[in-house]
Amino acid sequence: MYSDKVMLHFMNPHNMGEIENPSGVGEVGNPVCGDLMQIQIKVEDGILTDVKFKTFGCGAAIATSSMVTDLAMGKTIEEALKITRNDVAESLEGLPPVKMHCSNLAADALHVAIEDYLKKEGRGEWLDGKKKGPKKKPATRKSVKRQQTG
Ligand code: FES
Repeated sequence: MYSDKVMLHFMNPHNMGEIENPSGVGEVGNPVCGDLMQIQIKVEDGILTDVKFKTFGCGAAIATSSMVTDLAMGKTIEEALKITRNDVAESLEGLPPVKMHCSNLAADALHVAIEDYLKKEGRGEWLDGKKKGPKKKPATRKSVKRQQTG
């Protein structure tokens, strides 16, 4: 059911934890399963020098969090914004169809963290021209709560 790579990242996740004084933080949730994922980034000279995650979720969500931090580490802002949901799933040698939404959280949380960084830097408008992120607005903790409580 799960690839060996998913199991490896689930059993031994990379880059779990927090960054002291992160440059950007992205948090998204899945309103259906209720899982939450937070990605923190450190940006120096336009490069993601550190990427960490905290995930309250299923095994696939933990594996995809781990993988997206590996994919984003050392990338430029522009390169990291191009990391797609499919890139995450493909790097894990695929996910069962019912678990594909878990990889959405990882890519979305990374993009939200980068957007947070750019807004803090006063470069929010940069996103309009360059961003190739998710088309749908990712759920936030507030919207997840709203949907759960009706
Ligand atoms: S089941 Fe919720 S993120 Fe995987």
